[in-house]
Amino acid sequence: MRSYSASEFDPFSEAYLSSPYPFHEQLRAAGSVSHFAAYDVYGIIRHKDVAAALGDWKTFSSADGVGLERFSEGTMRRTQSLLLEADPPNHTAMRAVIGRVLSPLVIRQLRSRFEEEAGQLVDRLLDLREFDAVKDMAEFFPVKVFPDAMGLGLEGREKLLPFSDMVFNAFGPENDIYERSDKIGRPVVEWLLDQTKMENLAPGGLGRQIWDAALRGEIAEREAASVIRSLLTAGMDTTVNGLAHAVLAFASYPAEWQRLVDNPSLIRPSFDEIVRWESPIHSILRTTTSEVVVGEHVIPAKVKVILFLGAANRDPDRWEDPNDVRIGRDTQGHVAFGTGIHGCLGQLIARLEAEVIFAQFIRRVRSFELTGEPVWRLNNALRGLSSLPVRILPN
Ligand code: HEM
Repeated sequence: MRSYSASEFDPFSEAYLSSPYPFHEQLRAAGSVSHFAAYDVYGIIRHKDVAAALGDWKTFSSADGVGLERFSEGTMRRTQSLLLEADPPNHTAMRAVIGRVLSPLVIRQLRSRFEEEAGQLVDRLLDLREFDAVKDMAEFFPVKVFPDAMGLGLEGREKLLPFSDMVFNAFGPENDIYERSDKIGRPVVEWLLDQTKMENLAPGGLGRQIWDAALRGEIAEREAASVIRSLLTAGMDTTVNGLAHAVLAFASYPAEWQRLVDNPSLIRPSFDEIVRWESPIHSILRTTTSEVVVGEHVIPAKVKVILFLGAANRDPDRWEDPNDVRIGRDTQGHVAFGTGIHGCLGQLIARLEAEVIFAQFIRRVRSFELTGEPVWRLNNALRGLSSLPVRILPN
């Protein structure tokens, strides 16, 4: 067994988060496992090892937090997610309840509303011709359709974005990136606590269905509001980033956009290719419960391990020309939505949002052109843009 490459670089630094891919190449070259001295955490970079870790919850536990902090040590900057940060058996019961609320049948019922909203949005974008694809499209759409589906009031919904940004930043250290987002996101907590009370959620919405499960005794009442907040966090900036990355991809790879226009049946796999290429959650952590062999290394028990999802999704041993977008490539096995018992429960909603928007674009947009430099929004766990100026040409 080899010793780890002791990496001096900081996987939560602005330099890394602005441009992670060159650093991934260095990590891959150094071996299967790295140790980051600044935080005394380990990192797994290769696709096969990341996928194996995601699939092995007994060894790679989520219960002590999927960020740097350990819930067992108290003093947390955020509330533990009852779903994401639980191991079986606690996780199993909760996942069954939320899985029913987000079931394929329920999501199918949302389709016509989502399609209608996508049509109206693309009408507006075609009128504008030039716009910011983050603010005017990628943020606008999920902030409209997902809280609608949850049954949230209209007032103040835009606050969900800075809240989600803060929560995902809290997966990393208390660095400047976290501090900046905390200032904007923290005041939202009180508003959100109020919004997720049963009486403030519209009857028939997904939020009320979670409360109904609590009233039936399937989950504790105090858990209902907490899980609803988790969904409103997990389902916002992630989807925003996925949609913005799609426009960046279509503008940067016009031939791939044309391939999608020529083959609309590729809509679904094309979203997989987008999130493989730029993974909205770039990394997530686990805690080892026992010593474990990864590649040519042994990771000790009871340590935090960063799973670099974004790097695994660009592993050259898994995909040819991984840094390029190729609509129609086989993306099976990508880990942008995780895999195993914690695999994304909201992916049908995210996929539906992408699908209805792409369908409108395919019918009505000939091309996307960048009119300025894309600006990245740095986040300790998320990869996303804060601005993407574009022009669209109609058909
Ligand atoms: C879990 C990514 C959209 C709800 C996850 C995980 C990833 C992920 C990587 C696994 C985390 C882990 O293993 O620790 C994404 C991406 C999205 C997206 C890339 C959009 C493109 C959504 C939406 C919702 C949602 C829209 C809510 C409706 C959840 C929940 C879990 C989860 C509840 C935890 C599942 C569990 O622990 O059993 N997501 N997600 N996600 N996601 Fe998503």
